[in-house]
Amino acid sequence: MSGTAASAEHIAEAAERRWAFVVVSIIGVLVLMTIITGLHWAAMPPSRVETVDVHTLHLKGEFVESNLGTAIGADGKVTVRLIAQQYSFQPQCLVVPVDMPVTFRATSTDAIHGFIVGTTNANTMVVPGFVSTFTTTFHQTGEQLMPCHEYCGTGHEAMWAHVQVLSAEDFLAKSRGAERLSCVQRP
Ligand code: CUA
Repeated sequence: MSGTAASAEHIAEAAERRWAFVVVSIIGVLVLMTIITGLHWAAMPPSRVETVDVHTLHLKGEFVESNLGTAIGADGKVTVRLIAQQYSFQPQCLVVPVDMPVTFRATSTDAIHGFIVGTTNANTMVVPGFVSTFTTTFHQTGEQLMPCHEYCGTGHEAMWAHVQVLSAEDFLAKSRGAERLSCVQRP
């Protein structure tokens, strides 16, 4: 009688020890992953990190107001430059062509912001002091919403821009009128 109780206790203890070992191993692996990736990124920061001086952003360089919006380079490449700030994007309405690679270049003047364009893969964080850049292609014409998706303060949920994806013909026709394109309505 006491023999069976003792062996049952022994089995339960062994099972508990096994599970404790599994749980401790999982925690150990996670901690090790954190340490290894932390050391790796500290020792070898990602390449092509571009910095920009927040204090002179509005005064000189590529993010001055007159240079914001969509530009077609001499090589035909399309670049969108924009600024994120509490609580708006500048320009508030972006124009891009469909089925053509578009490079975004964005930075922030104050807090950490971010944006995503509709349901496309155009998605980045925008961090003060750094230039966020990515290249993507839009496959559907029409208007997309572009909300800020990093909590940046009390006005976060009101921080939106719009993106108009135009056909190549419409885009090129519009680009003949100006060096920097946007769909911001001017009074
Ligand atoms: Cu900007 Cu949230």
